[in-house]
Amino acid sequence: MPVENSHFARRSLLFMPGDSMKKIQKAAGWEVDAVILDLEDGVAQNRKVEARTTVAAALQTVDFGGRERLVRLNHVSTGLPVAEIEATAAWRPDGYIAPKAEDEADLCAVDRLLEAAERQLGLAIGAFRLFAMIETARGVMNLKEIACATPRLEGLIFGAEDLAGDIGAVRTPAAWEVFYARSAVVTAAAAYGLQAFDMVFTDFHDASGLETESRFARQLGFTGKTCIHPNQTPVVNRVFSPSPDEIDRAQRLIQAFAAQQAAGAGAFTFEGKMVDMPMLIAARKVLARAR
Ligand code: COA
Ligand code: MG
Repeated sequence: MPVENSHFARRSLLFMPGDSMKKIQKAAGWEVDAVILDLEDGVAQNRKVEARTTVAAALQTVDFGGRERLVRLNHVSTGLPVAEIEATAAWRPDGYIAPKAEDEADLCAVDRLLEAAERQLGLAIGAFRLFAMIETARGVMNLKEIACATPRLEGLIFGAEDLAGDIGAVRTPAAWEVFYARSAVVTAAAAYGLQAFDMVFTDFHDASGLETESRFARQLGFTGKTCIHPNQTPVVNRVFSPSPDEIDRAQRLIQAFAAQQAAGAGAFTFEGKMVDMPMLIAARKVLARAR
């Protein structure tokens, strides 16, 4: 059984453009588990340097109030991550996000840059966490090698918009066109002890659509969801937190299971339905998340 290597339960991760100090400064007021200071597609090509400088300044000066601070790099093939890590590492973000991860080599290249920064700063190797975005056809095909590329990897983030562009799919509200990849991401994450984060919901005025999509993501096994607007994070936090009813049911199921095991029964009836070992494991996961 893989052991999840993260100490931090993230439900909501909010993107903000790295060149917007105004948005970044507000992060401390939002109900969000992690902020993503974006240097990639949320920033125009002619603002990349400006964004890098702004993110470095924000890491120095903004009080994020205990929220995890992540920096999304550009893809290694652009050559930009060298300067991006150089400009930001000293200000100790909690981690970095590698976008459009296609294979092991993509992640190892970022891993080496982070390791060099850690040596230079006298930090422990692995101090910077890493997340990989799976948002290309190749990334989906190479999930296993990406998931195993480096021990500093903590999670996979599914990106539906780039994937749809890459495979020629048309995005629809039901998202069946990306279902295979979405499900593959959450399965690979579970197989290799990583957290899994669902795609962004771009229509930030549609709270009920966000709720439906978040619920489905949770049912698929995702641990959280990426957001683009602060009005999305309360919905996502609520959906990805176990409800009091779920916690209560999990506690009762675990108690019933122990009693039945002691009496020699592996499978038994609980509230009208068959229960055996897999449901016990699921109930334990509910309680672990609640903690
Ligand atoms: N992070 C922090 N603050 C944000 C925010 C975000 N992602 N999105 C909006 N806000 C702030 C706005 O600055 C605004 O503040 P104000 O009232 O003081 O002006 C307030 O929240 C309400 O925003 P609103 O007017 O509804 O939206 P907008 O038109 O300013 O911005 C977007 C809309 C989509 C441009 C904006 O939400 C955004 O930049 N999202 C992130 C985009 C991104 O990073 N994409 C790349 C990854 S997919
Ligand atoms: Mg993308």
